[in-house]
Amino acid sequence: MTIKRVGILTGGGDCSGLNAVIRAVTRAAAIQYGAQVIGIEGGFEGLISGQTQELTVKSTKDILTLGGTILGTTNKGNPFQYRERMEDGTIKTTDYSGKAVETFKNLNLDCLFVVGGEGTLEIGYQFFKKGVPVIGIPKTIDNDLERTDYTFGFQTAVQVACDALDRLQTTGRSHDRVMILEVMGRNAGWIALEAGIAGGAHIILIPEIEYDIQNVIRKIMLRKKGGSPFSIIMIAEGAREKGGATVKAEEAQGRLQGVEKLGGVGFHLAKQIEKQIDLEVRTTVLGHIQRGGSPNSFDRVLGTRLGSFAVDAAAQGKFGTMAALKTPDIVLVDLKDLAGRVRTISLDSQLIRCAESIGINLGREAM
Ligand code: F6P
Repeated sequence: MTIKRVGILTGGGDCSGLNAVIRAVTRAAAIQYGAQVIGIEGGFEGLISGQTQELTVKSTKDILTLGGTILGTTNKGNPFQYRERMEDGTIKTTDYSGKAVETFKNLNLDCLFVVGGEGTLEIGYQFFKKGVPVIGIPKTIDNDLERTDYTFGFQTAVQVACDALDRLQTTGRSHDRVMILEVMGRNAGWIALEAGIAGGAHIILIPEIEYDIQNVIRKIMLRKKGGSPFSIIMIAEGAREKGGATVKAEEAQGRLQGVEKLGGVGFHLAKQIEKQIDLEVRTTVLGHIQRGGSPNSFDRVLGTRLGSFAVDAAAQGKFGTMAALKTPDIVLVDLKDLAGRVRTISLDSQLIRCAESIGINLGREAM
């Protein structure tokens, strides 16, 4: 088979590199197959509303280095369970998936490229089961997707977090303070661990290992006794204390759809440390700075490779799949193998071993 007209949407939280994918899909479809490309706006919401824009080689010519997504995105709004607050305050849940399939058909598309993380790809898989020819492209700064070595957006986020850590190192050292950097990573600590290693953090706390505050204190004291009163702590937003709960943002209540809002564990940790140690503690929450801005070269190349490969897969009719990085190649994996699964850092991974072997404290007794 070949392709004449394809659609693309970006879903979930944005990240650097989305536009590189949109550009690659558009160029490969046009140049290799003479196909038309339709951009669906606002993630799956565009499939409900029918809001689209035609993408051409010309209209995408300047977007390779641009952060965000020119199509817009949302990390709420699952068409299968769309929750809305009614005027009388009640919550109504509607299944708009039939309407979305109808829009897809009316658009006369041969394929739908769904660019997203675990939640978006899960929805993509549900649409595939409803007969929509879907091909997934993996995206998320969290790097927590199964079956791909890396997701694009991750390396850029790691670099941003590492740069922040470099700056905290100098101010922390000057003032003899404990500096805490809170980064994203709700279920997995990939950003915290990689950026923490890259930026020379002394303590790294990740969702995969519940931290024991006494271990953290011991490490800080050990450094103080050894003549280094300053310490740098990297903490993922989803990290939690032994037996404790994930720290949620105060405004987290009331969100109708999408992921729960995390944030604040860095401040929580600061309070715990200040109670026990006579050192000043300061917390920085890096937040969405990790998601915005221009992709680094790794993410530009990865996004471009995934986009171009996905177009070839569409032309071969290989639907219900996702383009993935299996170093050094891009390969196709089945969407059904990813649905609803999150890739956390394995506790016996080399990365964890590496961190502990060079004396980084992960909030537990080193193994
Ligand atoms: O999933 C990506 C992510 O950046 C998470 O790390 C973070 O918890 C979440 O999105 C934040 O989402 P929002 O943009 O809704 O604040």
